[in-house]
Amino acid sequence: MSTSEITVPVLEFDHHSPHTAHHRDEVLKLVAPHPIFYTNAYDGFWVVTSNQIAQKLLRDPDTYATGRLEDGSGGITIPQVPVPLIPAEIDPPHHTVLRKILNPMFSRERMKQLRGLSEHVANETLDELIAKRDFDVIADIAGPYPAKVILRYLGIDEQDGLMLLHAAQSNFQAIDEQERQHALEMFMEVHAKIMARVAERRQQPRDDVISHLVAQPELSDENELFWLIFTLIAGGTENVGALIANVMLHLHQHSELKARLIAEPDLIPQAVEEFLRFYTPGGATVRHVRKDVVDLAGVKLHRGDRVFVWLHATNHDPAVFKDPGSVRLDRENVGRHMAFGGGTHRCVGAMMGQMEVDVWFRALLSRMPDYAVDVERSRHYDDIAIQNGWWEMPAHAGGGEAMG
Ligand code: HEM
Repeated sequence: MSTSEITVPVLEFDHHSPHTAHHRDEVLKLVAPHPIFYTNAYDGFWVVTSNQIAQKLLRDPDTYATGRLEDGSGGITIPQVPVPLIPAEIDPPHHTVLRKILNPMFSRERMKQLRGLSEHVANETLDELIAKRDFDVIADIAGPYPAKVILRYLGIDEQDGLMLLHAAQSNFQAIDEQERQHALEMFMEVHAKIMARVAERRQQPRDDVISHLVAQPELSDENELFWLIFTLIAGGTENVGALIANVMLHLHQHSELKARLIAEPDLIPQAVEEFLRFYTPGGATVRHVRKDVVDLAGVKLHRGDRVFVWLHATNHDPAVFKDPGSVRLDRENVGRHMAFGGGTHRCVGAMMGQMEVDVWFRALLSRMPDYAVDVERSRHYDDIAIQNGWWEMPAHAGGGEAMG
């Protein structure tokens, strides 16, 4: 694409910048008038902010693909993360095969069955917090709660699992060479542990996700199997944790809303949808133009162009969401949020994430309703390109455990 062909504004936009992380509302206002614009950051790419345009392009994987090609292009992030994300970075027809294998494991029915495990882990977590009174929302809840649920469901025991998680996180966030080296070393161990579980389940299957995966003839490639399991671990923890942390802080700061949810817990699922829209835990997804020339809402795109769908913006699109900067429980169209992406790659674990967050807030608000967050000492990520999360969020259990 040559810049002379650009017919839409070129904006200074960097999804990784600390400015975007700490002044998201300002950036959202800046981009809102432009359904699609161009930025020169990271060698240049298109940014879609319109919910309608984004939904449309995400449903057309033949034109807008994610697969990594030999020329180094592809992927669902800009720049690419150092590890392949499977199935996110696989195109149809193989992607369709993978989703057919995965979808039944994360269906509404399966999630009803998994609810009991989530409630057990949530209550176990709360028992510990109520006993120790001072805790950290990230280290004690956002990290371990979703991790324990996905790891137990996958069939990975806890000790191995926590190490796997640490490796997943350090790899995505590695900045300097030393950190990268450390992440690499952890990966070697992670690989060994995951493949040991795979070998075990081949011999003695159980009722868990790894047993289901190893039984699929289409998943005979060990490398693919490893990265698939790895993506399920990473995808199944960070986003859920980021949402829980944002909502815990939000409810601490908005006591009326908290009181309403305590009084009417059946509003929690609707609140979770609105919080998914408002905070957008996973910030973006990316597609790569695989046809010679494409018209996207009047803009000409060329083979190889990158299209960045900024989910924060599509979730705050004023053409779809009235008063997008407010959290409202009465939005009839909240289901149009794109916190789980869209189209063929829409999040496999969407119902799992919704269920876990619902379970967490029902348990928290009934057992520890007076919790308080130390806002001053909380530290938000400086980069929300991949996750809108927090490093630390010290908190206190508050009054006493509520009875009944
Ligand atoms: C609040 C919770 C969650 C949020 C906000 C979230 C967000 C996302 C987003 C934005 C995508 C990209 C979709 C696209 O490119 O169009 C995605 C994909 C994915 N997520 Fe989630 N996710 C959540 C929970 C989970 C959970 C619990 C799992 C575990 C099973 C999971 C596994 C995946 C996988 C495997 C993909 C790739 C799907 C594909 O490419 O076909 N996610 N998620």
